Amino acid sequence: LFAIGLCVVMCVSLLAGCGGGKKSVMEKDTIIVGTNAEFPPFEYVDDAGEPDGFDIALIKAVADRMGKKVDVQNMEFDSLVSSIGSKIDLAIAGMTVTPEREQTVLFSNSYYTAVQYVILPKDSEIASYDDLKDKRIGVQMGTTGDFDASDVAGSTVSRYNKGVDAVNDLLNGRLDCVIIDKNPAEAFVSMHSDELTAVDGAQFGFEEEAYAIAMPKVDAELANAINEALDALKSDGTYDGLVQQYIGE
Ligand code: ARG
Repeated sequence: LFAIGLCVVMCVSLLAGCGGGKKSVMEKDTIIVGTNAEFPPFEYVDDAGEPDGFDIALIKAVADRMGKKVDVQNMEFDSLVSSIGSKIDLAIAGMTVTPEREQTVLFSNSYYTAVQYVILPKDSEIASYDDLKDKRIGVQMGTTGDFDASDVAGSTVSRYNKGVDAVNDLLNGRLDCVIIDKNPAEAFVSMHSDELTAVDGAQFGFEEEAYAIAMPKVDAELANAINEALDALKSDGTYDGLVQQYIGE
């Protein structure tokens, strides 16, 4: 009888482990945060070799409110979504909410609004969506800029692990333009303002995008805690302080 009882207990705990009873990230003391620190001012590697930037500061403040520590893991942008729930607990990476990503992950409330920009050589004649047709476009792989560039008729899209490498190929004449989010576009262009210009993608018909924190789809407890922390940081002025410190708006 004891053996049968033990067997029942083991089977039940096994089922709980594999089935719907997945534990919330809220049960952990340290949250493993994935990012791709190639996206200034949201995330970049600082002089000490550590990921820093608006997103990193924001997630640290969020975790602090939740009484948690964070362990930030720098990885390729393209592998963030699929790593949530295994290698990492959540991702903050200037990540745009898209219906495709929502199939896999749960997004927090949005914490920032952005739009794609088009980086052009100063003497470029590209000025409208139609002008992008048949052009050589550089993007960071797996980003919304990549998806937009791929939608352009006849485009040849070069996909880079780092946005900055696309910008370098634009400077080398290997590309006609780079499509990347507004703030990184401005940051990259500011280093080459003699040669390059960053044009608002609204002029090309690109729509507003909402950045949010991506989490495991089933973890409503985590999502609630994060949304509450975001609200609190917005009402106590911490959020605005970080915007000023890192983005300067
Ligand atoms: N907002 C764009 C997207 O979600 C680009 C994000 C790139 N982020 C990064 N940390 N490299 O696809």
